[in-house]
Amino acid sequence: MSAKIDIRRDVTRVKAVHRRRVERLGDSEPLPPCDVASLDPVVRARALQGFSQLFETEYESVVIAGFMTSALARIGAPLDLVGAFGKIVEDEIRHADLVAQVLEGLGGKAQILAQPLPPAPETISGTRAIEEVLAGMASFFCVGEELSSHIFKASLEVAREPRMRAMTSEIFTDEATHGAFGFEAAKELVRLIDEKAKGRVALRVVEAVKAFEQRLGGPLSLADKKPLTDVDRGLARLGLLPKEALLGIFYERIESHVLPRLEDAGLPIGLRVQ
Ligand SMILES: [Fe+2]
Ligand SMILES: [Fe+2]
Repeated sequence: MSAKIDIRRDVTRVKAVHRRRVERLGDSEPLPPCDVASLDPVVRARALQGFSQLFETEYESVVIAGFMTSALARIGAPLDLVGAFGKIVEDEIRHADLVAQVLEGLGGKAQILAQPLPPAPETISGTRAIEEVLAGMASFFCVGEELSSHIFKASLEVAREPRMRAMTSEIFTDEATHGAFGFEAAKELVRLIDEKAKGRVALRVVEAVKAFEQRLGGPLSLADKKPLTDVDRGLARLGLLPKEALLGIFYERIESHVLPRLEDAGLPIGLRVQ
């Protein structure tokens, strides 16, 4: 099992710079408190697990968005795209901080798995580099970020606990734009590669779609179709959706939002899910 790294917050002299960005330069309210003592112990334990996973994925988004920003800059993408992805990095750091606050409030710890550094973007160049950036863009932003924003939207609709609802709302506000930035960047990059390269990128996207389905606990089986329990309802109040709901959003939105927009961007994928 990989080692874990504790992520500390507000411990250096530049903490004020960070907090200003987490609080949108003073525009957003601090998260309200959560009455942890009133939570059912099973719901609390499962919530700790759920928010720990969410912290890891938000933190991973910091790594991926940072890598994508440097890759876009390295291949000479329009500065507006580099700027938009720089904004995603800042957003993802805000999300990691907000989830860390929720996690710490529940008695948990913000941690990530120790993993190797991302590969250096300089090892390939020219059209091979553009193909590689497009494959990452389509997989992580057009698929991953676009679907995540639909999941956060659904979480926001069911979250009732004020602290978790405020956190979900803050994250959704940003996530709603990240997929769109990805499609805009993909449209720009796809013009620069040939049909063969597009075919290779499409295969990578199919893999990314499968990986996302697995990350949500899929594929969905008949055994997953069971009535909601009180624990499920308790978790939904905190904005944590059951697996069946997550996969339902995935199957519907991949068909209605992701694949048609990739095709509009000039990257037909040729995939049917379920
Ligand atoms: Fe995020
Ligand atoms: Fe995001």
